[in-house]
Amino acid sequence: MHNLKQKIEEELRGIDFSVEKEDLTTYGKDWTNFYTVDASVVLFPKTTLEIQQIILFANKYKIGIVPSGGRTGLSGGAVAINGEIVLSLKKMNKILTFNSFDQTIKVEAGVVTQEIQEFAEKQGLYYPVSFGSKGSSHIGGNIATNAGGIRVVKYGLTREQIIGLTFVTGKGEILHLNKGLLKNATGYDFRHLVIGSEGTLGIVTEAEIRLSKQPQQLNVVFLAVEKIDDILNVLEKFRKDIDVSAFEFLSHLSISYCSKAIEQPLPFKKVYPYYILIEFDNPRNVVQQKLEALIMDLYEHKTIREDLIVQDRQSILKMWKYREEIPASIASFYPYKNDISFKASLIPAFIKEAEQVINKNYPNFEVLWYGHIADGNIHINILKPKTVSIAAFKEKCDKVNKLLFDIVEKYGGSISAEHGVGLVKKGLLHCSRSPIEIEYMKAIKKLFDPNNIMNPGKLI
Ligand code: MLT
Ligand code: ZN
Repeated sequence: MHNLKQKIEEELRGIDFSVEKEDLTTYGKDWTNFYTVDASVVLFPKTTLEIQQIILFANKYKIGIVPSGGRTGLSGGAVAINGEIVLSLKKMNKILTFNSFDQTIKVEAGVVTQEIQEFAEKQGLYYPVSFGSKGSSHIGGNIATNAGGIRVVKYGLTREQIIGLTFVTGKGEILHLNKGLLKNATGYDFRHLVIGSEGTLGIVTEAEIRLSKQPQQLNVVFLAVEKIDDILNVLEKFRKDIDVSAFEFLSHLSISYCSKAIEQPLPFKKVYPYYILIEFDNPRNVVQQKLEALIMDLYEHKTIREDLIVQDRQSILKMWKYREEIPASIASFYPYKNDISFKASLIPAFIKEAEQVINKNYPNFEVLWYGHIADGNIHINILKPKTVSIAAFKEKCDKVNKLLFDIVEKYGGSISAEHGVGLVKKGLLHCSRSPIEIEYMKAIKKLFDPNNIMNPGKLI
C-alpha cells in the first residue's frame, strides 16, 4: 500500500514498527521451508489496546495481518507472502499473575513456552506441554495451533491447559473468553474455537493457564525393537501397568542424524530399525517391580532387543535429546515434513501401506520416521538430496504426498496432528474435513473477520 509507513506513523502513533529488510525477513517467516517472504512492515505492539488499534487500522485499509510469535511453526502459518503487516507479539512477554490457590497463571501471548515451564517449576508446579522448540515458541503460537508435543498422552494438548483468553477479533472487538473458570456451561465456548484457529479469526493477547502437579521421580526407558508391531505391543503392555507421560518412537536414521548433531554416541550397542522412548513418573518407586517384570516379559517374547533405564535428571535430559533434537539436526536438508495422526491402533496398518508408497516413490531419498506414537501421531520427514533442486524436490514430494494423504483419508486419519494447516496443507484440507465442515469454517471466519484481515490465505 502506498505510504503505509506514513499512515502508521500518523495513525498508530507510539506503536513500535520496522520496515528494515532484515526485520521483514526475520519476523515475516516461520521455520517452514519453501516460501519467499513478502512483508510490508513489522509492528511490535505492547498491549491488547495497541493490537486492537492495529486490527482496526488493517480493516480501514483492507490490509492483511500475519501474527508472528516464536516463528517455530512448520506449516507456513506465520509467513507473510502477500505484502501483509506482520504483527509480532515479541514485546508482550510478561507473566502477569500467579494464583497459588487456583494453581493458575496469566501470561501475555509472547511469553516463551519454556519460561512458563520454568516459572511453574519454581512454584512447585508443572506446565506439561513440551516439544523441541520450547525454548523459542510463544504460548500465543501454541494456542493458535493447539500445540501438542511429547506429553499429550497423559496431560492433553495446549487446549486442555487453557482456561481463559483475551482475544481481539478480526473486527477489533476485545473478548474475555471463559475468564479462567474450570466449569462454565453457558453455551458456545469460543475459547475452543480460537484455540487451533491459526490466527485466522483474530489475535490472542493474553492467556490464563492451569498448572499441573509436578511429576515425582521421573523415569525414562529407552528400548530398541525390530518391528513397528513391536512398538505397539510395548505400548499395550506398558499402558496396562504404568501411567506413561510420553511414548515416542524414532527410526534408526532419525537417531543417527540426531546423535551426530548433538555429539552423543548412539545409545545402544547394536543398530536396530526402531527405538522407543518412554517417560513416566514413579513416586516412591511404586512401579519399580512392575517395570522389572515388564521388561523381563518383553525380552522373553523377543519384543525388545536392548533397554536403558535412567532416573537422574542429567541422564533423562540426555536421553530426551536423542528425540527432541531430531528436527534441528535435519533442518539444513530442507526436510519435507509430514505430521499425520490416526487412532493409535491403526498405525501398523497405515505404516505398512505408507512404506510401500514411500519406498516406491522415493527410492533414492532419505526418509526419517519419528513421532508421538501413543497419540497416534507420526512425523515423516523426506530429506532433499544435494543433487536435486529445491523446486524439483518440492514438486516431487507434493505429488507423493497426495498418495500418502489418500491412505490417511482411507484410515480416517488427520493430515495435521499438531503442526497446523497454514499454507502447506490448505489445498488438502478436504482429506480430513468434509465439504460441509469447510463451509462452516468459512462462515465462522466471515463472522469474526468479515474483511479477511486475519492471516489471509491460511487454513481455508
Ligand atoms: C517434533 O515432534 O519433533 C515436532 O513436531 C517437530 C517436527 O516434527 O519436526
Ligand atoms: Zn511432533
